[in-house]
Amino acid sequence: MSNRTFTMIKPDAFSKGHSGAIIDQIIKGGFKVIALKMLKLSPEKAGEFYAIHKARPFFAELVEFMSSGPIIAAILEKENAVADFRKLIGATDPAKADEGTIRKLYAASVGENAIHGSDSDENAKIESDFFFSGLERF
Ligand code: RTP
Ligand code: MG
Repeated sequence: MSNRTFTMIKPDAFSKGHSGAIIDQIIKGGFKVIALKMLKLSPEKAGEFYAIHKARPFFAELVEFMSSGPIIAAILEKENAVADFRKLIGATDPAKADEGTIRKLYAASVGENAIHGSDSDENAKIESDFFFSGLERF
């Protein structure tokens, strides 16, 4: 899985109409789309996805936000996918993100930050399996 990562366009970016521009930037950044779907997470599913942050003070806010509207989930392929994708999306806090990154361009705050990117090969596989069956990957 070292050449694959998982992403979600979060409800804020989706509702503002940035999904097309973001997918375009991802593809122009050299990533191949292996799987793609639009869906709305239930609060239960959002909590399961971000279970690692359960004890953090922002957890309830995060679950509410991530289940507030549709998201676009995708598996992406590129050499060094996890690290290169984190570079493309920029820092968690858009105020600290580099110029030209997806979060710098489209995120409003550290909580509502437009896009998710897996933080390790192991989590890329777990997160991809959370959203996609084998039949949905190309
Ligand atoms: P992500 O998992 O969504 O790609 O983001 P990340 O690795 O850059 O950041 P992480 O530490 O994993 O945090 C997950 C998400 O929780 C929300 N958050 N809110 N209010 C806050 O202080 C705060 N801190 C984090 C963000 O939506 C963040 O992306
Ligand atoms: Mg993370």
